[in-house]
Amino acid sequence: MSVVEIVDHPLIQHKISLLRDRNTGTKEFRDLVSEIAMLLCYEATRDLPTEEVEVETPVALARTKVLAGRKLALVPILRAGLGMVDGMLNLIPAAKVGHIGMYRNEETLVPVEYYCKLPNDINEREVFVLDPMLATGGSACDAIGQIKKRGAKHIKFIGLVAAPQGLKALHEAHPDVDIYVGALDEKLNDNGYIVPGLGDAGDRIFGTK
Ligand code: PRP
Ligand code: URA
Repeated sequence: MSVVEIVDHPLIQHKISLLRDRNTGTKEFRDLVSEIAMLLCYEATRDLPTEEVEVETPVALARTKVLAGRKLALVPILRAGLGMVDGMLNLIPAAKVGHIGMYRNEETLVPVEYYCKLPNDINEREVFVLDPMLATGGSACDAIGQIKKRGAKHIKFIGLVAAPQGLKALHEAHPDVDIYVGALDEKLNDNGYIVPGLGDAGDRIFGTK
């Protein structure tokens, strides 16, 4: 049974409120995306396997736990997913990073893939697909389809803001994928933007508008 979790944490809610504000500038926006990604990473890695080891503390021998060495990969969906990579790597620095490039045709909203480069051993890794926005869900569904075609078997999706349609579409298309998002918004508008949302995440991260 896969997880669909709206990660309901006061720090995440606070930081997403700041992100939504149209007056938040590029630097602050970028920092917030990174910080929220780190908080979501904490939740999405809760089930990583651990193993017991012995460690000598200054006081005594401790039997304690470390990560059991499952290999991890991050795959940001370009462009906006790039903004989440540093925050994730703060907590899981050994993860390899692949990239998949998708953009939505602004009229049809149909996603177009333009780039894909993944670690060779993606089939052995637990893969975290990153994109701040899950709107129609088209980009995430297609990106995950492509990543599966290249052999990935264990995938989680991490996003900041989702529309109900996108969450449903992703869960239906990939019921095996665990989904972690920071907020579930009300709806999409006629242009496919999440309402209330935060606008165009890629443009706000990179200052292109
Ligand atoms: C945005 C966002 C997602 C996609 C979500 O990317 O980062 O990838 O839209 O929409 P969907 O769920 O309806 O597919 P965009 O196409 O604007 O490209 P960008 O990241 O390069 O700005
Ligand atoms: N992509 C964005 O960046 N924002 C939205 O609201 C929808 C898709």
